[in-house]
Amino acid sequence: MVKKNVNKDFLYNIFSTKILTKNLYTHRQHLIKIEVMLLRPKVLVTRKIPDRGINFLKTQCDVDVSQQNGSISRKELLKKLKSKKYDALLCLLTDKIDDEILDAAGSNLKIVANYAVGFDNIDLKACTERGVIVTNTPNVLNQAVAEHTVALMMAIARRIPEADKWARKGNYKGWDPNGFIGTEFNGKTLGIIGAGRIGTVVARICNKGFNMKVLYHDINKNPFIEQEANARFADMATLLRESDFVSLHVPALESTKHMINHKELAMMKKTAYLINTARGPVIQEDALLHALENKTIAGAALDVFECEPKLVCHPNEYQIFTHLDNIVISPHIASATIEARQGMSELAAKNIIAVLNGEMPITQVNTDLKVNAIKKGIVTDAANYFYARNGMVVKNLTELQSALEKMDDSTFNFHVNANKNDFVNWIRNTIKDQVAVALLEKAKTRSQAVNAIKHRLKVMIVAY
Ligand code: DGY
Repeated sequence: MVKKNVNKDFLYNIFSTKILTKNLYTHRQHLIKIEVMLLRPKVLVTRKIPDRGINFLKTQCDVDVSQQNGSISRKELLKKLKSKKYDALLCLLTDKIDDEILDAAGSNLKIVANYAVGFDNIDLKACTERGVIVTNTPNVLNQAVAEHTVALMMAIARRIPEADKWARKGNYKGWDPNGFIGTEFNGKTLGIIGAGRIGTVVARICNKGFNMKVLYHDINKNPFIEQEANARFADMATLLRESDFVSLHVPALESTKHMINHKELAMMKKTAYLINTARGPVIQEDALLHALENKTIAGAALDVFECEPKLVCHPNEYQIFTHLDNIVISPHIASATIEARQGMSELAAKNIIAVLNGEMPITQVNTDLKVNAIKKGIVTDAANYFYARNGMVVKNLTELQSALEKMDDSTFNFHVNANKNDFVNWIRNTIKDQVAVALLEKAKTRSQAVNAIKHRLKVMIVAY
């Protein structure tokens, strides 16, 4: 931020001395426009995403969206980050954000907005150490992921993909009383591991829609899931032993890695199904393949994989998907609805705009890092000024901007007219903006001073 101000002043000074001095006031408007253009914050989006957020970002920022097909390669990402001083990075769960990436981005980077609720692709500590805010996209995808979880439960329990494959091969010759017998949901027990936002929606759909009993396990009890889905807290062993469907909704952490392993699978009923729409590494893959091959559980439905995007970590195990019928897979598409993906796009963009405006983002992950530390008092100082002089309450840069719009000469009158240097001193001591001070000092009339400072503050606000 400090560096940016230095550049900004440097730039403005070039204009001021080389051009502006010749015909200062006639060119001022034009120069300010140039400066605004040059100083619009820069945002890099690592892949084409639904347009709602991109369009919003474009109203206030210069936005580069990677045009590569598929995920951006690490090499390309590093190259792009080094090529411009980006203020914000909107990235995907397939982009690993670590020291090397942050170093390439440099000190201008203020926010990494992940286009996902999970953020296991981001080195939070590295971001926090550099004062970079990290945000994610929770809530907007709850319904999509929950509905997909239920779809997977149905797909595996009613053997839909298996029957589909069979029928497409031309095998359907007539109704069969014993064909593709599956399992009903009604009255069965659902075990939710990780009773957060998504787990709670899955529990509610299954309890209210299918009359399922719900058990849940988490590090803490969650009264909300108990109330929403008549869920009962259970220890892990009880949940695994009693559930007909076990659905995973925990984040990928050191503590959740391989939390479903041989021991846990052995506790499950032979007739039970395991569903994973959380993160692949939560299940120890070999243990699951062993359980499926030996039919110690009835089946599994997976949207996520331990070695994603590989479906299995060991290539020689790949045939598991061709010779086993008791597994259903989808390629990490649980949040793939237009509503969720547009919502994720919008939320990521709103987080970026908030941080660039010096405000708290909506869904910050590294909450120990305060936006205030980045914006370094500009709003506070300006707010104090406006409140003291005009009784205007200004809480953030956007409000400061609209406060400025509303001000006319007379509201500045009191201060500027009475003692121009007083106002100049305020600018010097609080906003610490040399260009503003220079403009004020050059102003010949009160009106020129007022306009100059209004424009200058606007430029600064846009630049932030
Ligand atoms: C997430 O958001 O973390 C999902 O895995 C992708 O939507």
